[in-house]
Amino acid sequence: MNKKLIATVLATALVLGGCASKPAPTTNGGDSASSAKPKVGVTIYKYDDNFMSFVRRAIDTAGKDKADLIMNDSQNDQAKQLDQIDTMISKGSKSLAINLVDPKAAGNVIEKAKAKNLPVIFFNKEPEASALASYDKAWYVGTKSEESGILQGQLIVDQWNKSKDKWDLNKDGKIQYVLLKGEPGHPDAEARTKYSVQTIKDKGIGVEELAIDTAMWDSAKATDKMDAWLAKNNGKIEMVICNNDAMALGAIASLEKAGYFKGDKYMPVVGVDAIPDALTKIEAGEMLGTVLNDAKNQGQATMDLAINAANGKDVLTGTKWKLDDKKAVRVPYVAITKDNINTAKDAYK
Ligand code: GAL
Ligand code: CA
Repeated sequence: MNKKLIATVLATALVLGGCASKPAPTTNGGDSASSAKPKVGVTIYKYDDNFMSFVRRAIDTAGKDKADLIMNDSQNDQAKQLDQIDTMISKGSKSLAINLVDPKAAGNVIEKAKAKNLPVIFFNKEPEASALASYDKAWYVGTKSEESGILQGQLIVDQWNKSKDKWDLNKDGKIQYVLLKGEPGHPDAEARTKYSVQTIKDKGIGVEELAIDTAMWDSAKATDKMDAWLAKNNGKIEMVICNNDAMALGAIASLEKAGYFKGDKYMPVVGVDAIPDALTKIEAGEMLGTVLNDAKNQGQATMDLAINAANGKDVLTGTKWKLDDKKAVRVPYVAITKDNINTAKDAYK
């Protein structure tokens, strides 16, 4: 009652004194939301992920002038992320940009967003198509996962054909490889693992898998695996295939300890992402190649869509992006070796 009275008095005073009083930029009817920066709630599945730290930086850069970003480290904990989403909603977020912890949790996120009619842009971990289709205000920004596997396989084939005289240690014409996999069940990890090897076979080169295991996208875990594999398969491994660069760098650290990359002792190692530390290793001749996963454009697209949605606009308004039939923006991958390394450097500037 009291509040109502005060409001009435204030409103009357505004009307009466409106003409003479100084400009009041944000008291102009209900219009204020369009001139103020909208709140956009963002989660990163964990800050402690090499590639995601670059996506996060791109999000910050793309969003800082146009939105009031609420950034969260979900610390690889899906329950924690759902709590963070509740908090962001209660703080007045106008849209959500969600990097899921568990790619299967999109339905839970959508339930929360739907209840408040809030748009959600998922990014990097692709939700199941059925979840995305269940809500007209849900979209995805990422890549076409299998493309990275195909390009990685093609890169291996091209380089193998040039250097097999040296690399085919047992002279059987086949590639004896070990494979470091990302998080099992992650669409990128599954597709890269499958299509990388598949592409090599499709090009007519025989393969033999000496070992495969997950190192959860992580350098230190990859070093441990590689240490064990080198001890077990000493002298037999001819190629190290990694689902991402962080693991490739971990494998290279193990190989360095074992005396590789000195004199004639060499091992071809490939990754995905093209993070700056990997590019340094490629330039130094300690990494064969990688596949650019464009952190900058994925961060930019995520923010473009999230900010448009927060402002009640069509998500593509004023952007260069296109949606496919699954409501996804997919940024292309590019194979990277020493020869075109500048393409990758530009994408991480
Ligand atoms: C992939 C990337 C990995 C890791 C993962 C996290 O696209 O290649 O390095 O960051 O996303 O979901
Ligand atoms: Ca061989």
